Amino acid sequence: MSHSNHRYHITTFGCQMNKADSERMAGILETMGFQWTDEADHADLILYNTCTIRDNAEHKVYSYLGRQAKRKQGDPALTLVVTGCVAQQEGDNLLRRVPELDLIMGPQHVNQLQDLLEQVFAGNQVVATEPIQIVEDITKPRRDSRVTAWVNVIYGCNERCTYCIVPNVRGVEQSRSPEAIRAEMEDLGRQGFKEVTLLGQNIDAYGRDLPGVTHEGRHQNTFTDLLYFVHDVPGIERIRFATSHPRYFTDRLIRACAELPKVCEHFHIPFQSGDNDVLKAMGRGYSQERYRRIIESIRSLMPDASISADAIVGFPGETEQQFMHTLNLVDDIGFDLLNTAAYSPRPGTPAAGWLNQVSDMEKTDRLQRLNHLVSSKAEMRSQRYLNRMEEVLVEDVNPKDPTQVMGRTRGNRLTFFTGDINQLMGKIVPIRITTVRPFSLSGEWEPTPG
Ligand code: SAH
Ligand code: SF4
Ligand code: F3S
Repeated sequence: MSHSNHRYHITTFGCQMNKADSERMAGILETMGFQWTDEADHADLILYNTCTIRDNAEHKVYSYLGRQAKRKQGDPALTLVVTGCVAQQEGDNLLRRVPELDLIMGPQHVNQLQDLLEQVFAGNQVVATEPIQIVEDITKPRRDSRVTAWVNVIYGCNERCTYCIVPNVRGVEQSRSPEAIRAEMEDLGRQGFKEVTLLGQNIDAYGRDLPGVTHEGRHQNTFTDLLYFVHDVPGIERIRFATSHPRYFTDRLIRACAELPKVCEHFHIPFQSGDNDVLKAMGRGYSQERYRRIIESIRSLMPDASISADAIVGFPGETEQQFMHTLNLVDDIGFDLLNTAAYSPRPGTPAAGWLNQVSDMEKTDRLQRLNHLVSSKAEMRSQRYLNRMEEVLVEDVNPKDPTQVMGRTRGNRLTFFTGDINQLMGKIVPIRITTVRPFSLSGEWEPTPG
């Protein structure tokens, strides 16, 4: 069947994994002939790529879905698809809640979208949530940016953090081969992309499930080995990666980042809590002292590295004293960016069933206090950029001011300056920073003489 006059829309919730998956699914839909529309209400096929990390993320999905389910009652030709983590978590239950759905598909099935849709167009309601071996996608993703791109290196997570639903919905760790990753990056380089972010829920686990090549007593398929293997891909000028886990983070990785010029001095290493007993109850497998040592090692080799993280407040049993330990850690380290969240009990996770839950009022109060500290620290951290020269990779126009372009520093700070996007897109330019804000910068382009 040809879909050349059919339009599709994707709304993506959640993390970078979902964004990367949505780009691959958009690529598949376009290969099938579908054309993108910004307007869900005008689409013939709507796909919600969902997140269930916290309760409110899940609720958002149901309100979007309800609206389109109603539309479908008047327009039965509309195809409704739910993918991502809510799809995996709820499976058949979603059909009971929203019988109008045509396809419910877990994250491991993303690359099979075309086959599954063929079944839908043959008249079936399809649920695809059984665990599978992920196959390489042979179509080209439709990427949101022409400058920066995500590249998955490992899917799934084998950790069992007691608050977290990700292992339930993303399945066990599956690493892509170094050759497949390099080939994707080479292709991106040929297409003119300049920056790649390598993605994994726990990127330090990369390679553990690959056939081991042991050389000089060391497993040769680690994430650090992967960085050495891909860092010279032609055209790609910057490499980033996320997410790092303090339990597995190695000094060898820090040295590689310091040594390899394309790898940016930016580390996203969630600590979750600054209290050792809370960390133990979370099942994180490190102490706050170990976390501090990692940051010290990074800063000893790369004094200006930017550090970001995630933290949770109000984990079951967290006392005021324990929460203070989180504040102390944030105060001492000085993060460039910290994603904070109040603990949200998730179905099927151990901590959700514990009796020592913290009250919502307490959680909200702690979240506010933490956020307050975070922005004042980030503002202080930003000061170091004032009057400095920074290399900015230009990604797009400033949506709020078309006379300006925006891009990022190596440390991942969003930076704005006056310039023409047609001339500057994808270029790395030297910028004199003239204004600093907690999470962004503005500056002036100083072309190098000659
Ligand atoms: N793999 C990453 C994080 C994945 S989830 C890691 O190990 O750090 C992204 C963030 O969501 C987590 O770092 C955590 O801070 C937050 N999060 C996960 N489960 C949560 C829950 N039940 N309640 C509140 N925040 C949660
Ligand atoms: Fe969740 Fe922990 Fe895995 Fe991160 S490492 S995805 S927090 S279980
Ligand atoms: Fe959400 Fe799934 Fe990512 S639960 S945070 S979209 S892995």
